[in-house]
Amino acid sequence: MKVTVFGIGYVGLVQAAVLAEVGHEVVCIDVDQNKVDNLKNGVIPIYEPGLTPLVTSNYEGGRLSFTTDAQKGVEHGELIFIAVGTPPDEDGSADLKYVLAVAKTIAEHMTSHKIIINKSTVPVGTADKVKAKVNETLTALDKNVSFDVVSNPEFLKEGAAVSDCMRPDRIVLGTDSEKAKDKLRELYAPFNRNHDKVIIMDIRSAELTKYAANCMLATKISFMNEIANLAELFGADIENVRRGIGSDRRIGYQFIYPGCGYGGSCFPKDVQALVRSANGVGYKARILESVEAVNYEQKEKLFSYIQRHFKGDIKGKTVALWGLSFKPNTDDMREASSRVLMEALWEAGACVQAYDPEAMEETQRIYGSRSDLKLMGTKESALDGADFLVIVTEWQAFRAPDFALMKEKLSEPLVFDGRNLFEPERMAEYGLKYYAIGRGLSVQGNSSI
Ligand code: UDX
Repeated sequence: MKVTVFGIGYVGLVQAAVLAEVGHEVVCIDVDQNKVDNLKNGVIPIYEPGLTPLVTSNYEGGRLSFTTDAQKGVEHGELIFIAVGTPPDEDGSADLKYVLAVAKTIAEHMTSHKIIINKSTVPVGTADKVKAKVNETLTALDKNVSFDVVSNPEFLKEGAAVSDCMRPDRIVLGTDSEKAKDKLRELYAPFNRNHDKVIIMDIRSAELTKYAANCMLATKISFMNEIANLAELFGADIENVRRGIGSDRRIGYQFIYPGCGYGGSCFPKDVQALVRSANGVGYKARILESVEAVNYEQKEKLFSYIQRHFKGDIKGKTVALWGLSFKPNTDDMREASSRVLMEALWEAGACVQAYDPEAMEETQRIYGSRSDLKLMGTKESALDGADFLVIVTEWQAFRAPDFALMKEKLSEPLVFDGRNLFEPERMAEYGLKYYAIGRGLSVQGNSSI
């Protein structure tokens, strides 16, 4: 099938590459000429396992192309995806200006029936706004062309985006058109194997489904972080509690890992956007407001341990920091807990020696060169001359470090772990003082929590 994708960001690029891989002819449009040129030369703007070979082979095979020429794109695709960004505006609402600009562009160039599919995470009611924008533009140009609008939210996770797209749990389609339904079933048939994963519903429900999914997951995390904070105060161990509740299949083991807060491009933004949308219809979303507030405080947790340990005096300390990305297997630093921590450490007069397997360039891009930030080539070299270690992201490569070397290199044998990677008893055996999240009982006598 002939497909066009507007917006070569995370969602657009992965979706386009995966559709091309199963044989569809996909044209990607972006306003950024530089990005388009880079992609033609095999330079992929994001780190995502498996994406580079997928993009390159499909580009070389002629099934995937990149251009800034919107007219060409609109002419090509019978199915047109909108996958542009919806950045939060000042009050946290999703800003629809890019989505509506694409809707206008499509209307300007279309000369035959188009199925316009919204992939971007957008507030409930956006499909109606897209419809209105297309109609308004067609009327202004005195054109009479039919079209359908479909809401088809994306559920991919960074770091697992290609496999999530290749093997989706579900394909949610919000539409009021039989024709669009049939075409999208055909488009997704290669991914809809074993059992029927297509869930068809009205457009507004599909739009809300995306927010509900992300907000539910964010709620699980903030709930667990709140219980972790209680575990500390009660002298319990959250890791035991986690295993205890996860074994109940109604709760499950997923997304109940306590830590130093969730980050990324979706959870913080989507929770905020749904709170704002709720306000807009006169409803106070109290659970979601609390989810956001708990997460905000949780990102300050490691710094508060450090402050408490050093009785507020960390001026002149050198801090080894492992993990900068908001989660493993990505170089994405959006809303990363590491940023909140580093900024607090700098503010308090400490220096940071950081290592991350993928996010070093991104860190450099965000913070530039500054005398209180050193980016180190390995996790071991980050420990050189450091006073203590803080772990923010649970990269696999951090799970079995050389503890003896760690103790030897740090001027104080002290580890603050925002992702509960180690057992407190083992750390005590190595002579390392260990602060983790919500592990009050297990660290008694080992740290000052
Ligand atoms: C998320 C959703 O999972 C995905 O379905 C949606 O399409 C986009 O948003 P992503 O932002 O890529 O995906 O990351 P995810 O793996 O969900 O992790 C989000 C954050 O939650 C990370 O900062 C992670 O460290 C944190 N997290 C996750 C926890 O703190 N505890 C957990 O138990 C799970």
